[in-house]
Amino acid sequence: MTQDEQKRAAAEAAIQYVPENCIVGVGTGSTANYFIDALARIKHKIEGAVASSEATSSRLAAHGIRVFDLNDIDSLTVYIDGADEINRDLQMIKGGGGALTREKIVAAVAETFVCVADQNKIVQILGKFPLPVEVIPMARSHVARQIMRLGGQPALREGFITDNGNIILDVRGLQIHHPAELEASLDEITGIVTNGLFAKRGADVLLLGTDKGVETISR
Ligand code: A5P
Repeated sequence: MTQDEQKRAAAEAAIQYVPENCIVGVGTGSTANYFIDALARIKHKIEGAVASSEATSSRLAAHGIRVFDLNDIDSLTVYIDGADEINRDLQMIKGGGGALTREKIVAAVAETFVCVADQNKIVQILGKFPLPVEVIPMARSHVARQIMRLGGQPALREGFITDNGNIILDVRGLQIHHPAELEASLDEITGIVTNGLFAKRGADVLLLGTDKGVETISR
């Protein structure tokens, strides 16, 4: 299977985690897009979706799937999203598409987080993929200095503004042996809105597209 076929297979397998009559949380990126396309085929069985980005919201709406504001619902059974890297403890780096803040918010509300990914995303140690950090624009230099103190090399994502009107610093050079600790340390830096480590709230289930089919890994 090609990488795209693995993404599609994992995304389609996630449909089994979507209960009837529910509102489903939907992530962002190419794998999440395959999930949206699969969700469209059962749209008559669900109430609708909550989107983690404007791009996802548009794609859902284009398929005729009702998009709810997160503030208008009390709970979310399941959130389906991709990852840029994921380890065997189901901790992730996310935000390659820049949607990390809304993704982390929707993931925080969801009872179950199902990650859908191709086999290239699984790693022993997080950090080869540059860690995205969403930053309030006026805090850019301050945050960059603080990140360098933690051993990272931040680079501005040129020409990119998030759905929330902020910038992204992509941080290279981190060998992340303790993801939850680093996530907490980054959360303490004033000016950072969200960092792309999803360790405190990792995934509950990973559906991994491989050459041999979809492997299910649960916590
Ligand atoms: C979006 O901001 C990211 O968190 C995506 O979930 C991540 O980049 C995975 O994207 P792909 O499914 O396109 O690899």
